[in-house]
Amino acid sequence: MSADAAVLCGLGTWLPPHAVTNADLARELDTSDDWIRSRTGIGTRHVADPSMATSDLAVEAGQRALKSAGREAVDAVVLATTTPDHPCPATAPLVADRLGLGTVAAFDVGAVCTGFLYALAAGAGLIAAGAAGSVLVIGADVYSSILDPADRSTRAIFGDGAGAVVLRAGRADEPGALVPPVLGSDGSGSALIIVRAGGSREPLHTLAAGRGDPYFRMAGKAVFRNAVERMADASLTAARRAGWAADDIDRLVAHQANLRILHAVADRMRVPRERCPVHLDQVGNTAAASVPLALAHAVATGRLESGHRTVLTAFGGGLTWGACAVRWPEITPA
Ligand code: ACO
Repeated sequence: MSADAAVLCGLGTWLPPHAVTNADLARELDTSDDWIRSRTGIGTRHVADPSMATSDLAVEAGQRALKSAGREAVDAVVLATTTPDHPCPATAPLVADRLGLGTVAAFDVGAVCTGFLYALAAGAGLIAAGAAGSVLVIGADVYSSILDPADRSTRAIFGDGAGAVVLRAGRADEPGALVPPVLGSDGSGSALIIVRAGGSREPLHTLAAGRGDPYFRMAGKAVFRNAVERMADASLTAARRAGWAADDIDRLVAHQANLRILHAVADRMRVPRERCPVHLDQVGNTAAASVPLALAHAVATGRLESGHRTVLTAFGGGLTWGACAVRWPEITPA
């Protein structure tokens, strides 16, 4: 089963149908369409029905990715998420079972908004190790389940969604072959993006005792500068690994955190802003689902075509970041 590269061969996405506009939020919170659009570029986000969990979204996206790849089976499932169905066990085995994939290897990856890049690297690693010939890599999050209903700064930004790709063993010179990814972390910034309660530091029972904070918190301003520098620098390194200069990058598909961040990353890299597909206006920041959702949207709107020298990049809690170069293959997203 050994191969010299993991090759992208399928792409599928799913969004919960319920869309929440800025005007909807402004009816509930002290905010406005003007503030949210001018500070973030976001117009709408999708929110899952409270009866839905991350696995439900992941299964929908996973089915579509398998269909896009023309496959009914894979050897492993890697799921990136910050909002697993339960703290224990991991959600990926449940997703694999519900997809009818049998007893394949299945595990979760926790790297917050960089999760999809880390999961992609893990999937490529399974292929490089000869442990799998094909891998379903999913990014899925239901951030609405961890946001403080009263926090206008996070409610305005985050949306729910799922995206997935299929990787197969192949050759490094094929379209779709992942160039070895660039990954990094800086745990000194771990408190900047955090859900304090529910782990071993502040166990769930502290909440039952009336202590602790169960909600997602983000120090937006401090994270902003880090996000720009890390995504830009990782993307340039990823491009160099592919033998590309910044000007050779046809598309920079970045984690859809904030339009100002996307522009600042492009400017720092000296890549024209028009080469960065934008999807956050319609879906907000969908965390681990952000990059595959942006890819599918870019393909659907003709912004990403086969042959494009493409760099994927993301940044998130941890702090974590990553980037990966790929010459975009002929794929029909489902
Ligand atoms: N409506 C109106 N006012 C708001 C809103 C809102 N929705 N949200 C915040 N404000 C207010 C704040 O309360 C603050 O008011 P104050 O000055 O009276 O205290 C003011 O606006 C400025 O707040 P800042 O947080 O400084 O606003 P900023 O311009 O930095 O924008 C934002 C906030 C959008 C969060 C921005 O900082 C950002 O995008 N940061 C990076 C996010 C990111 O990249 N995260 C990493 C990936 S996500 C992950 O890993 C999960």
